[in-house]
Amino acid sequence: MTEVDIELGRKKLAWARAHMPIHARLRARFHDNPPLAGITVAVCSHLEAKTGVFIETLAAAGANVVFTGSEPQSTQDDVVAALNEQPGLTGYARRGADETAFKGFHMAVLEHGPRFILDDAAELTARLVHHRPDLLGALIGTCEQTTTGVRRLQAMHAEGVMAFPSYAVNDAPMKHYFDNVHGTGESTLSNIAQATNLLFAGKHVVVAGYGYCGRGLAEKARGWNAQVTVTEVEPRRALEAHMNGFRVATMAEAAEYGDVFVTATGNPEVIRGEHLERMKDGVVLANAGHFNIEIDTSALADLAQGVREVRPGIDEYRLADGRCLNVLAQGRLANLAAPGAMGHPAEVMDQTFATQIMAAVDLVGRRAEVPAGVHSVPDAVDRAVAVIKLESLGISLDRLTHRQSRFEAAWRIEDIRGQE
Ligand code: NAI
Repeated sequence: MTEVDIELGRKKLAWARAHMPIHARLRARFHDNPPLAGITVAVCSHLEAKTGVFIETLAAAGANVVFTGSEPQSTQDDVVAALNEQPGLTGYARRGADETAFKGFHMAVLEHGPRFILDDAAELTARLVHHRPDLLGALIGTCEQTTTGVRRLQAMHAEGVMAFPSYAVNDAPMKHYFDNVHGTGESTLSNIAQATNLLFAGKHVVVAGYGYCGRGLAEKARGWNAQVTVTEVEPRRALEAHMNGFRVATMAEAAEYGDVFVTATGNPEVIRGEHLERMKDGVVLANAGHFNIEIDTSALADLAQGVREVRPGIDEYRLADGRCLNVLAQGRLANLAAPGAMGHPAEVMDQTFATQIMAAVDLVGRRAEVPAGVHSVPDAVDRAVAVIKLESLGISLDRLTHRQSRFEAAWRIEDIRGQE
């Protein structure tokens, strides 16, 4: 086992801290009146430096923080070590942990009896509901930061097993307008470029799913001078992609000409055997959705005569006719699990994690009022994060005049005319 470079972990944290101004302001704000004082809070997320700053800020809010990874390949052991040396922080995670060890880390976190969970893909929440229902009574609530997790929580609620409230932080404007669009777009493409050392300009890039992530991927690939095709199953999203100037096709059609394929749907087997069979020699297949299920790598293994790692993080599958298809990061999140991947840029995670923290503080404070189920983050909480962000950028905005506010609140024709 290679030795962990804790000094590198400290440096990564320092760099992220310096580029997360909302968190710096929150830490200063919490100094005199820590809103999570004495509460054991569990964090389950991609464990790299920005998450580290998020964890530190929760500790500054007074929480005892226990943390673990939401995906074994995205954990950075140096950052985990640099967090574990800080008072009040306890982490259980290791990069590359197998399924048994990964589950063991989650169970170790639950052993601390967390009263609040800040989750990614509802990984820890599902684990608690399934394996430690004895902890449900003390659980105040959870905040969820990804699309897949919100869907899982809604399924849990529909099944009647959700005995606690959860804020769908993923759906808050301060999160998904920026993180899913810009964060996923920039970090996924730059990691594909870095891992392959190949050009985007002039290539046919196929983006599966034109949701928030897909939009960012498609726009940014176009910005890198690629010819972009979008595949969709939802008619309005397909139309939107068309009117935004992208070619829209089925995956079967796009499989014939695509050079780079990026999936961002959250669904399994979006690229499957029937598509893989049609692809050109040398294509690159990458996934940006949460689970490594969007590219059917089992079907690809069945089709292939051999697999070998041709560059770090790139597996080349050789088909019987000699064509080679390249899969990045074993079909896991390309922006987090590829070698050297660092996830979203710091500024975007500053917003996402600040929204998580402010939502958690709100839910803890209003725990008596908020019923079990999945809820939107209150608009005032989301706006407050935007205000801090704008302050940090030195950007001012106009305010509605008294007359404008009255006009917006009016509905009677005479009231509206009277305002004219
Ligand atoms: P979204 O719900 O806005 O978009 C998903 C889109 O995929 C929808 O338009 C849907 O119609 C489409 N779709 C579903 N099945 C499809 C299929 N078989 N073929 C083509 N299109 C299909 O979701 P969002 O926010 O874009 O998230 C997508 C995935 O990315 C989720 O798994 C989410 O958890 C993950 N995610 C990953 C991030 C990262 O860092 N890589 C960051 C944020 C989210």
